Amino acid sequence: MSRSVLVTGGNRGIGLAIAHAFAEAGDKVAITYRSGEPPAGFLAVKCDITDSEQVEQAYKEIEEKHGAVEVLVANAGVTRDQLLLRMSEEDFTSVVETNLTGTFRVVKRASKGMLRARKGRVVLISSVVGLMGSPGQANYAASKAGLVGFARSLARELGSRNITVNVVAPGFVDTDMTRVLTDEQRAGIVGNVPLGRYAQPEEIAASVRFLASEDAAYITGAVIPVDGGMGMGH
Ligand SMILES: NC(=O)c1ccc[n+]([C@@H]2O[C@H](COP(=O)([O-])OP(=O)(O)OC[C@H]3O[C@@H](n4cnc5c(N)ncnc54)[C@H](OP(=O)(O)O)[C@@H]3O)[C@@H](O)[C@H]2O)c1
Repeated sequence: MSRSVLVTGGNRGIGLAIAHAFAEAGDKVAITYRSGEPPAGFLAVKCDITDSEQVEQAYKEIEEKHGAVEVLVANAGVTRDQLLLRMSEEDFTSVVETNLTGTFRVVKRASKGMLRARKGRVVLISSVVGLMGSPGQANYAASKAGLVGFARSLARELGSRNITVNVVAPGFVDTDMTRVLTDEQRAGIVGNVPLGRYAQPEEIAASVRFLASEDAAYITGAVIPVDGGMGMGH
């Protein structure tokens, strides 16, 4: 198996673990990064997903070097937590712009090649928070819940072309995004996780790789929780 795989935000955290999982399986993996030195071992393309022109340039580079993207993992995302009354319009729109509209941009561009090839795999990284809600994260939860409706619409739209579109909804994962939480906040979160711990990024990556594999050929429009049981019932 040597497919052309793109992982947005694959330079660190969950995205980097996903990039490693595909590379270990023998795929050609491209990752996006915005600044600094990207990790070695991948085709690193500079791309801010809030900028359509950068998205287009990134795809052109990947297509030249690896061929059209056959597996897209839309992982890039941000938080900007604030209680509603203190949340500025910019806090809200910037998170939606990256997490939801940015995902729209990269999926739309990938779908061109997938439609032509009459096959493709798209995996979106949402969050348990998009399903359960979370105080102080109305912007983030709205963007992550939006990904579910987006994915399910595309699953219906693209299914006849053998393109699957699924969502992985991680719980709390040990990355830079959650390292900013205080010990007290972390303890509170872990108290609500039946498995009693955070996930490691590799545990999210394993589900993503499965959804992109032959074994998952008949799964589309699904939301797979990888959350230690935290979001059960949502
Ligand atoms: N950690 C968790 O507990 C958790 C739980 C559920 C869901 N998630 C989701 O999983 C995904 C990865 O999270 P993480 O924990 O690995 O976060 P992270 O360590 O903060 O990494 C975020 C990644 O997204 C990239 N990114 C952010 N804005 C971008 C933009 N405008 N254009 C391109 N790339 C951008 C970052 O690139 P730079 O390096 O350039 O900043 C980085 O690679 C996110 O969608 C997040 O919402 C995380």
